[in-house]
Amino acid sequence: MTDTPELAHLIEAARAARENAHAPYSKFKVGAAILGESGRIFAGCNVENAAYPQGQCAESSAIGAMVTAGDRRILAILVMGGETGAEDICTPCGGCRQRIREFATPETPIHICDPAGLRRSFPLETLLPESFGPTNLAF
Ligand code: THU
Repeated sequence: MTDTPELAHLIEAARAARENAHAPYSKFKVGAAILGESGRIFAGCNVENAAYPQGQCAESSAIGAMVTAGDRRILAILVMGGETGAEDICTPCGGCRQRIREFATPETPIHICDPAGLRRSFPLETLLPESFGPTNLAF
């Protein structure tokens, strides 16, 4: 999907969501965008809270938007965070890797961006190997 119109749409959706991030404590704004199985794009931002542990990651917000709209499969997800050109890229936290797993496959691409554009892409399997998912409960 590198350099496709779909990637460009995901980047723009994540960028717009990131602008609305509520990150007064960390000042670390993140936007996420999901391509759902219907072809629609769902975006979300991080929503921090004065009671710090109650904050929510951008990926969680985007997944909530997708599920609320009725989609159940993530075909691709893009995360935009951090500073342009920063050494560290904004990969999803461990909890969000598991949340993505619920609606994705090991092959699902996770695109990591900074505000200037795409930095890296990983299949979910690379970020969450040997994962536990819905099929583990299909007994
Ligand atoms: N954050 C995300 O929203 N997604 C990530 O992939 C990494 C971290 C948020 C959580 C918190 O609001 C801020 O970034 C700093 O950790």
